Amino acid sequence: MPATLLDGNALAKTMRAEIGARAGEFERTHSRKPGLAAVLVGDNPASQRYVRSKRKACATAGLESWLHPLPHGTSQAELLDLVARLNADPAVHGILVQLPLPKQIAEEAIIRAVSPVKDVDGFGPENLGLLAAGHPRYLPCTPFGIQQLLVRNGVSLEGAHVVIVGRSNIVGKPLALILMQKAPGANATVTVCHSRSRNLADLTRQADVVVVAIGVARFLEADMIQPGAVVVDVGINEAGDGKLVGDVDFDAVKEIASAISPVPGGVGPMTITMLLHNTVDAARLQAGER
Ligand SMILES: NC(=O)c1ccc[n+]([C@@H]2O[C@H](COP(=O)([O-])OP(=O)(O)OC[C@H]3O[C@@H](n4cnc5c(N)ncnc54)[C@H](OP(=O)(O)O)[C@@H]3O)[C@@H](O)[C@H]2O)c1
Repeated sequence: MPATLLDGNALAKTMRAEIGARAGEFERTHSRKPGLAAVLVGDNPASQRYVRSKRKACATAGLESWLHPLPHGTSQAELLDLVARLNADPAVHGILVQLPLPKQIAEEAIIRAVSPVKDVDGFGPENLGLLAAGHPRYLPCTPFGIQQLLVRNGVSLEGAHVVIVGRSNIVGKPLALILMQKAPGANATVTVCHSRSRNLADLTRQADVVVVAIGVARFLEADMIQPGAVVVDVGINEAGDGKLVGDVDFDAVKEIASAISPVPGGVGPMTITMLLHNTVDAARLQAGER
């Protein structure tokens, strides 16, 4: 039987309405909207597209957003100066510095410079440390979105074996931390694989849930999962004909899996949704409500 679709567009719509209600409540209490400052350095078309989508989603959900476009040749000192000004601006509750940054800027230095209470991407060392210690403040948006996509589609993670393929700092590693939390909607047994893992297919075949985040088009094939497994596809790859494909061979795997997320329309819309969620949380935290 073909798999159920883990529909990120549908869930994002539901959750953005919920977030919009919380944003409205904040505005009624504080006479201003939760606000997100987006910093875009250079003219990378994909980054421009992502920032546009994020700002549009803010507007729809009743959040304020500001765009700070900087030229490609911006120095690290100039970007640090802007981040310092945004850190000090009380109207700005969340700061999003769109990655990747041009080569002359060390991403790590910028991530560390964002005030931890405004770090709504959840990438900074303080927020990652809190997550690792079991007291999360803001969860990184893509892995948070993956967890919500699973839980709110009725996939039980409690005691489940989740195999994550990919160990990046923005997806695989924080996802492992989120899913192994001693908390409802988590409590999973997590295995993390990467390019050096031996016998990778033997590992993915043991999983109740497989999450693939590697950036290799159609990498996960049908014989790499057990029948009935749940599959989440994080990858975004250009197929060559202008279309986007994920890291999963969707047409083959959907015949074996019990549930599967599509690309596009799976994890992508959830990532933006969790950014809005974190920005409302940040506004409430800075207003002393959390
Ligand atoms: N939908 C969204 O919102 C969203 C958000 C973020 C990323 N993405 C997409 O997700 C994908 C991954 O992004 P990322 O930033 O996490 O990537 P990344 O930083 O390039 O990390 C890729 C990871 O995959 C592992 N890997 C690569 N080839 C492999 C292979 N053949 N077998 C096993 N592991 C392999 C790498 O292993 P090593 O560590 O050993 O090198 C690394 O851990 C990309 O397509 C990206 O566009 C989507």
